[in-house]
Amino acid sequence: MEKGVDLKAYRSSFLMRHLESRAKWIGMKQIEQYPFYLKNHPEELQNFLDSISIKVTSFFRDSAPFRDFETLVIPELLKKKDGKLKIWSAGCATGEEAYSIAILLRKALEKEKKRWDIEILGTDMNEKFLEKAAGGKYSLKEVEGVNSALLEKFFKSVDGRSFEIKIFLKNWMKFQKHDLLKSDGFPGQDVIFCRNVFIYLNREAQKNLVFKFVNNLSDFGFLVLGRSELMLAEAASLFTPVSLSGRIYQKRRAIKGGKKWENEC
Ligand SMILES: C[S@@+](CC[C@H](N)C(=O)[O-])C[C@H]1O[C@@H](n2cnc3c(N)ncnc32)[C@H](O)[C@@H]1O
Repeated sequence: MEKGVDLKAYRSSFLMRHLESRAKWIGMKQIEQYPFYLKNHPEELQNFLDSISIKVTSFFRDSAPFRDFETLVIPELLKKKDGKLKIWSAGCATGEEAYSIAILLRKALEKEKKRWDIEILGTDMNEKFLEKAAGGKYSLKEVEGVNSALLEKFFKSVDGRSFEIKIFLKNWMKFQKHDLLKSDGFPGQDVIFCRNVFIYLNREAQKNLVFKFVNNLSDFGFLVLGRSELMLAEAASLFTPVSLSGRIYQKRRAIKGGKKWENEC
């Protein structure tokens, strides 16, 4: 992870928790000592930044969003006439979310006659996570959420204890370093998954991010949030809820005349 992460955007309780745990790990009695330690040990900054990059993730995490993505969203996406789909997994950690999306799409496309051009982009600020995502290799424990039929179809067993995503699925994927709090993003997305990232951010940063996603979604594109993340009231009028349990929302209005939605609240 690069230094220069905008820490002001994160919830103070979240930052405090991680400061305390770093201080304890170093062996400090009082957290007030931490800034002095940081001054004398510049390498500690990276340790702290790594500690706030939470890697908890899994294939088909929470099941409802993926069930509803498969049954409600994919059929809508496949009505597209141009045969092109762009999906962004923002804050993808080690890639399980992005590959879960790819697996469901591939399953759906098996029944399709039309040729589809698919791009699934996974981004994160943590380079180590992205390396693992690009490698697409997971332990037996990490593939627990994948049923045996899907495991057989989309993974190859490496040594009996780890499983690698098959190449035809990897060919759809692109993993790229990107700080969600900094650059504008990747326009023209049909779907954006951003799950379990908002929970770490303060309200202002959440608002900026949701408007950034509005601007990156194509007309009537879908936004998928995490289980404990609701659509913000300030942006609710721009979306139609598709699945409340799956936290799936469809962008309601087209951006007219290139209008960009700003956080005006
Ligand atoms: C808990 S994981 C969520 C992974 C996956 N979306 C899921 O729900 O299973 C949160 C991820 O967000 C990433 N993240 C946090 N802040 C970020 C930022 N400003 N820009 C990009 N990624 C960020 C972390 O590095 C971490 O990989």
